[in-house]
Amino acid sequence: MATAYDRIVWPGEGVSAVPYQIYTDPTVYAEEQARIFRGPAWSFVGLEQEVPQPGDFKTNYVGDTPVVMVRGRDGRINVLVNRCAHRGNLVCIQKEGKNLERLTCVYHNWTYDLDGALNSVAFRRGLNNKGGMPDDFDMSKHGMRRLRSESFAGLVFATYSPSAPSLFDYIGAEMRPNVERVVGRRMKVIGTYSQYMPNNWKLYMENVRDSYHASLLHLFQATFRINRLSMDGGIKLSDRGWHHISYSIGATDREEEQYAADKLRAVDDEYRLADPSLIDKWAEFSCGTTLAIQSIFPNFVVQQISNSLAVRLCLPRGPEACELMWWVLGTEDDTPAQHAIRVRQSNMVGPGGLISMEDGVVGGWVQRGTRGDRDKATILEMGGRTVEPSRDSRATEVSIRGFWNGYRDCMEGRAGR
Ligand code: FES
Ligand SMILES: [Fe+2]
Repeated sequence: MATAYDRIVWPGEGVSAVPYQIYTDPTVYAEEQARIFRGPAWSFVGLEQEVPQPGDFKTNYVGDTPVVMVRGRDGRINVLVNRCAHRGNLVCIQKEGKNLERLTCVYHNWTYDLDGALNSVAFRRGLNNKGGMPDDFDMSKHGMRRLRSESFAGLVFATYSPSAPSLFDYIGAEMRPNVERVVGRRMKVIGTYSQYMPNNWKLYMENVRDSYHASLLHLFQATFRINRLSMDGGIKLSDRGWHHISYSIGATDREEEQYAADKLRAVDDEYRLADPSLIDKWAEFSCGTTLAIQSIFPNFVVQQISNSLAVRLCLPRGPEACELMWWVLGTEDDTPAQHAIRVRQSNMVGPGGLISMEDGVVGGWVQRGTRGDRDKATILEMGGRTVEPSRDSRATEVSIRGFWNGYRDCMEGRAGR
């Protein structure tokens, strides 16, 4: 039977125009949960070091399904659906915890081992030989559901799919080096926070892949020379464009001149920072990369903006809302001065960030602009209509088209389940 998604018409060539309906339709939202988040995609769940010892746990979501990442007695990390087999209560109510012997549901006190096996049922034999569970109740059949989980560079992902490729292959050869470069060291979490946005999760994932807007919407970024389209850089894509990296390398005199010549509003020499230490930086990476924003389909981001390192996860919260979670990172080897630089630079990102605050509102504006017109569509043709890496320009929307390739592959059953 044709579903709401199957009836959607994609105008244009493949992914060069996106129907507005896809940002608002509750049925499409439900189908995404099944076909992407409970389908062939790998979802980021947390960092290995957030659960260093057996019995340590941290909760999160795969799509809109609550999950808990817990380190087992054997030292391996389990990702379990955070739901009691009895009547569906959340088992872990707190966001995180340490050193648990087992997981206990507060509702009727059923308990589970750290790998999700049902360990005990309160009053299983009743009281005074009255009540209790039927004799044939089989404890071994009623654990918490355990998802397939794997780690790469200390990042833990989970998938519902038994047949999806390994996480290593899913991230792929083109994408792995940047993940390792940014977070594949002895990392430490400097802080975490999350922000709610009044827009569909895909509008944020388009924004994060949108190298075209960076120096136009974010005046701070362009004014203070953090990233301009005229810097050296480019776009890398994984196979079929599911994942992307937009990167730039240093500021040069040439790009300074070009920006001035273009008279973009971003250049305004009236503006000076009262405290220039905000953008103090050091040359952390030998490759010279000063900015790299990487997305792993469907909703995960690895960020390097100067020395500001972070990972982000954009969780769907209904058709017209999402929650963006941030892990701001440093390394165990940072000197106190380097740590201070990272903390100061973190003012550039996050919900009130000098660079990223605009991203927190623009999705909501698009949501408002589009929700009434289900049969109209965006234009996504900057840099062409196809999905090819862009070696020398970021004045392109190719990475967004890549996202939609991944989306259509999942929604239309072209990716293994
Ligand atoms: S719902 Fe968990 S013990 Fe009843
Ligand atoms: Fe942005």
